[in-house]
Amino acid sequence: MLVLGVETSCDDTAAAVLQDGQKILANIVSSQDHVHSAYGGVVPELASRQHIKNVMPIVDGALRTAGATLKDLDGMAVTYGPGLVGSLLVGLSVVKGISFRSGIPYVGVNHLEAHLLAIHLEHEVSFPYIALLASGGHTLLYCVKGVGDYTHLGGTRDDAAGEAYDKVAKMMGLGYPGGRAIDKLAQTGSPNAIRFPRAKLKSSAYEFSFSGIKTAVWHYLKSHAEGESREPAADIAASFQEAIAEMLVRPTINAASANGVERIVLSGGVAANSRLRSKMKEDADAAGLAVFYPAPKFCTDNGAMIALAGYHWLKRGRRDDFRLNADADLTL
Ligand code: KG4
Ligand code: ZN
Repeated sequence: MLVLGVETSCDDTAAAVLQDGQKILANIVSSQDHVHSAYGGVVPELASRQHIKNVMPIVDGALRTAGATLKDLDGMAVTYGPGLVGSLLVGLSVVKGISFRSGIPYVGVNHLEAHLLAIHLEHEVSFPYIALLASGGHTLLYCVKGVGDYTHLGGTRDDAAGEAYDKVAKMMGLGYPGGRAIDKLAQTGSPNAIRFPRAKLKSSAYEFSFSGIKTAVWHYLKSHAEGESREPAADIAASFQEAIAEMLVRPTINAASANGVERIVLSGGVAANSRLRSKMKEDADAAGLAVFYPAPKFCTDNGAMIALAGYHWLKRGRRDDFRLNADADLTL
């Protein structure tokens, strides 16, 4: 079964072609970082306009790379939420249009579900597993028991982990998006230089909180002048990254142990973070748990994970009609 996946929920325009839910024939992502970096965050109106410009060339490019035409497709999958409504509408309208014109069936995909399943693009991981989904908009913990069978265990009380990365990067003048820039800078810094406060929440609740550390970094930068008492930027980045990794790892390991689940899966853009990956592995090894993480390009938004989630639903016979609307606040 050949499936086209289209993703336009935030600021990346992405399309992929996936064969039988396994073989990625094409996976193209067009980043809008250059459009939004001057503003330190995504400007929704500019994002929609960029998607309109990019979406058809990206879809055509994915088909061409896969050596396929629309006629070869058995189905299409497109993100219909959650995300920025103007951005979601672009991908959804394009896929509906193709479906209407050509008769190729399509399904709307929940972006969160696609992140939770992205691991299967590269690894064979048995169910159940505890999935940590850490991205720019979400920090969530799920027990994934199968496709369509997701138990919500917890999440952030305030900011998402990626949001904290992006806001701290902005404060440090590192541009947008900030996660990758902080990760790179932290490679040469000391994680023990500054002890930023870790939010202490009830371990049984599997909750996270990142607004406190964001404010702590802001206070640190405000009260320590550059070049005087302030530690080098690499040390600030490494110390911040260490604190975030600790705060993400502990509830995840607790959730796995308390629920008797032996496997942990990372997903979402923050799962590309080098320290989160190494710390999760160290602590999971110590607890006798296995950890799986996608390649960085499948952690951040991509069309392949949308095609994969859509493949499973198409295979089960689901078809969406043209009344499906974009849902900015879609939950899982
Ligand atoms: O999943 P994603 O591409 O988009 C959303 O669905 O939000 O995640 C984007 C987020 C951004 O906040 C970005 O700063 C963060 O993932 N990110 C990282 C890294 N790469 C991307 N955060 C920490 N370390 C990284 N290496
Ligand atoms: Zn995402």
